Amino acid sequence: MVCALLHDIGDTLGSYNHADVAAVLLEPFVSAENQWMVKHHAIFQGYYFFHHMGMDRNLRDQYGDVPELFKRTAHFCEKYDAAAFDPDAETLPLEFFEPTVRRVFAEPKRTLYKAAFEKIG
Ligand SMILES: [Fe+2]
Repeated sequence: MVCALLHDIGDTLGSYNHADVAAVLLEPFVSAENQWMVKHHAIFQGYYFFHHMGMDRNLRDQYGDVPELFKRTAHFCEKYDAAAFDPDAETLPLEFFEPTVRRVFAEPKRTLYKAAFEKIG
């Protein structure tokens, strides 16, 4: 859920690498698999529009050697990213998501400073 909400958070800082920016920001708070998904979502999302720009919509196929990550990211793009472009899609108010976002960002799970955080409690 948090990845779906924030996977494009890097858009304003990284016009050419927004997915990289988002992956770095989310890294301390999400699993390695979800970070990979956010980092690569832009290429997977391209399946839905790259061909309209003269690009290869199957650029995502280069990640066929990591089938579980491929499946996770393709599913994420189909269910959440591509679906979000539907102006008639049903949405929930932001307040619905707030508790989950607060819980996920309450404590970093993967950080170089984890040992130091554990010492101070
Ligand atoms: Fe994106």
